[in-house]
Amino acid sequence: MAEFTLPKNSKIKGGRKVASPQPGGTMRNFKVYRYDPDSGENPRYDTFEVNLDECGPMVLDALIKIKSEQDSSLTFRRSCREGICGSCSMNIDGRNGLACTTAIEDVKGEIKITPLPAMDVIKDLVPDFTRFYAQYASITPWLQTVTPPPAGKERLQSPEERAKLDGLYECILCACCSTSCPSYWWNSDKFLGPAILLQAYRWLADSRDEMTGERLDALEDPFRLYRCHTIMNCANVCPKGLSPAKAIAEIKKMEVERIV
Ligand code: SF4
Ligand code: F3S
Ligand code: FES
Repeated sequence: MAEFTLPKNSKIKGGRKVASPQPGGTMRNFKVYRYDPDSGENPRYDTFEVNLDECGPMVLDALIKIKSEQDSSLTFRRSCREGICGSCSMNIDGRNGLACTTAIEDVKGEIKITPLPAMDVIKDLVPDFTRFYAQYASITPWLQTVTPPPAGKERLQSPEERAKLDGLYECILCACCSTSCPSYWWNSDKFLGPAILLQAYRWLADSRDEMTGERLDALEDPFRLYRCHTIMNCANVCPKGLSPAKAIAEIKKMEVERIV
C-alpha cells in the first residue's frame, strides 16, 4: 500500500490530518449579510477574510470556520453537509443554492452571501419558513386512500408506476426554487410557488393515491397554481437538478384533461 506522507509543515488537528497554512495563504473575502432583530440596528454586511488553505472546499466550510474563529454570533442553518437536509439554502453570489454543495472555487472574487430572498429574516442568514411550511401542509403531502388496504401486504406499485416519482421524490424542500421565482416574490401569500407545486404533483403522480380529484380541485385557482408564468428560474436554480416548472406543467395538463 502506498504510504501517505504529510507535508513537512503539517500537524494533526482533532484527529484529522490538516496542512498548516502557508505563509500568506490563499485568502478570500466573504461579505455576509448580518441582521439581529434584538439589536434594533439596520441590517449590514460584515466582511470576513478566510484562509482557504485552512478551510474545507465548500462555502458552508467557510461559514463554519468564520463562526468558530472570528464571530460566534454569525447565525445560519446547517445539518447534513451533504446536500440532503436542505437547511443550508441561501443566496451565494446572487444565486440561490446550498452552502454545503457550493464550492468556494466556483465563485469568483469576493463571495457575497445573503439569506434567501423574499422571505422575512429571523437572524443573519436564517429566513422564516413559516409561510412556506404552511403552504406545504396545505397540499396534504401524504398518501390518501379510500379503498381498504390489501390484506396482509402493502399497496404495491409496478416499476413503471414507481418511476413516475423520479424527479419529484428527491426534493429536499430547500426553497431555492420558490425564492428565485418572481411570481412567488410578488404573490407568496397566494401563489404556492414551485417547490410546493412540485410536491403537490408528487402526490398526484403517485399511483397509490386516491384523492386525485380533490387535490386538483384544491389547486385549481388563479393564484395557487396559475400564477406560474413559466419564467423557469425554478428549474435553473434547483440544487438537486429537478424541474418544478415541468411538474407545474403536468398539473396544468391534468386540470385541462379532466374537463375535456
Ligand atoms: Fe429545493 Fe429543488 Fe425542491 Fe425546489 S425543487 S425545494 S430547489 S430541491
Ligand atoms: Fe416561477 Fe418556475 Fe413558474 S420560476 S413562474 S414557478 S416556471
Ligand atoms: Fe444539509 Fe446543506 S447542510 S443540505
